[in-house]
Amino acid sequence: MKEVQILDKKFREFITELKIREKVQELALKINTDLKGREVLFIAVLNGAFMFAADLFKRIDLKASITFIKLSSYRGTCSSGSVRELIGWNEELKGRTVVIVEDIVDTGETLEYTFNYISGRNVSDIKVVTLLLKPAAYRRNIKLDYIGFEIPNDFVVGYGLDYDGFGRNLPSVYKIML
Ligand code: IMP
Repeated sequence: MKEVQILDKKFREFITELKIREKVQELALKINTDLKGREVLFIAVLNGAFMFAADLFKRIDLKASITFIKLSSYRGTCSSGSVRELIGWNEELKGRTVVIVEDIVDTGETLEYTFNYISGRNVSDIKVVTLLLKPAAYRRNIKLDYIGFEIPNDFVVGYGLDYDGFGRNLPSVYKIML
């Protein structure tokens, strides 16, 4: 079993690179099928989703574009519970089909903020894809159309996700060792 030390914490490999690759392929296939014939704007939520968004986007065979937004509620290993403002963004969304790309949905606060912001701009359809979901922590009613893995309520890093800025470069997902 692979283990890594990041700052003061130890993490153990939890979802391998191969499992992630297979899942990304599966999610892309579903999106390609469901949105066939449509022009789609992918909106990825930075920083965490950059790696997932890149891998997913490569597998999309629709007429598609991608943009990135930044906002975050996390410091350290537990949610601060307050979403910061969305940074520098003025994409025309009226009448468009949008796919929100999240790395992880925890309480859902970040997703709710993003979703409400986008749905308030006269889009014709919004779908949500997240690589990871912590069902025990999720407290919102926004429908998650495509979910990669449901995971326990433990802190994870890797594949774009960080612990105080580190660990994003790990190619698989690691779970904190308690
Ligand atoms: P939420 O607003 O509580 O759903 O938190 C979502 C955001 O918090 C994600 O976009 C991540 O940036 C961060 N986050 C939540 N859980 C984890 C985790 O286990 N590891 C790293 N970041 C996380």
